[in-house]
Amino acid sequence: MALIEVRKLVKKFGEQTVLNGINLDVSEGDMKVVMGPSGCGKSTLLRCLNRLEDSTSGSIYFRGEEITRPDVDVRALRQHIGFVFQQFALYRHLNVLDNVTLGLIKLKGMSRAEAKRKALFELARLDMLSSADKFPGQLSGGQKQRVALARALAMDPAVVLFDEPTSALDPVMSREVAELMNRLHQEKVTMLCVTHDLQLARQISDKVVFLDKGVVCAEDSIDQLSRHHPDQKIRAFFGQESNS
Ligand SMILES: Nc1ncnc2c1ncn2[C@@H]1O[C@H](COP(=O)(O)OP(=O)(O)OP(=O)(O)O)[C@@H](O)[C@H]1O
Ligand SMILES: [Mg+2]
Repeated sequence: MALIEVRKLVKKFGEQTVLNGINLDVSEGDMKVVMGPSGCGKSTLLRCLNRLEDSTSGSIYFRGEEITRPDVDVRALRQHIGFVFQQFALYRHLNVLDNVTLGLIKLKGMSRAEAKRKALFELARLDMLSSADKFPGQLSGGQKQRVALARALAMDPAVVLFDEPTSALDPVMSREVAELMNRLHQEKVTMLCVTHDLQLARQISDKVVFLDKGVVCAEDSIDQLSRHHPDQKIRAFFGQESNS
């Protein structure tokens, strides 16, 4: 049994069918990358996974339990499924340490001292300890992304979802985030990452899932998809780098 199993997932916004029968597995320790044209529903898929959106039909199972049911404890679920956004979503009026401790105190019910210990551990893990007293406005984009990641990891989630983690970053910082994700992968952190960034995809994963027209069209290495996939559109999508 995979950690996350998505089965025939359908999501409609009014008349528009965005996801039209998605099947996808994420197993423990996976570093899975999802790519696809803009507007194909990548963010919507991630949002369905931690119930920021309710799906229209189909099922998502987390550790074998159906989490698409209406009676699921969404707050508890989100403690197991961490989320890192493109825009970091840090609290500007809180320093780095408090950004990380907030969820531990409010959601996990830790004491302030316990939360601080845990937060300092995660910040050290991501090389951000020396910035613990700084405010988000004093950090670079790459550093902010590290804090967002420390905050997600502090909750000890079973999986971390990333939505375009490098799209607000320059290439050097993107590379740093990729290296960090690789390190976490070695530490067996389970991750599912949506990205436009072919370089990031190459840096962090051997294989990618290609989403288009509401379904998973292919799952293979970028080289296979760009050179040998029968669908010209898919070859073109993954061949972008060599054309630019
Ligand atoms: N809350 C919403 N209400 C109505 N339509 C929505 C909503 N959220 C997304 N959509 C539509 O669903 C489609 C998929 O959007 P989504 O953000 O999932 O795409 P995406 O693959 O993440 O795109 P991008 O690569 O540009 O981030 C789009 O056509 C979008 O307009
Ligand atoms: Mg998106």
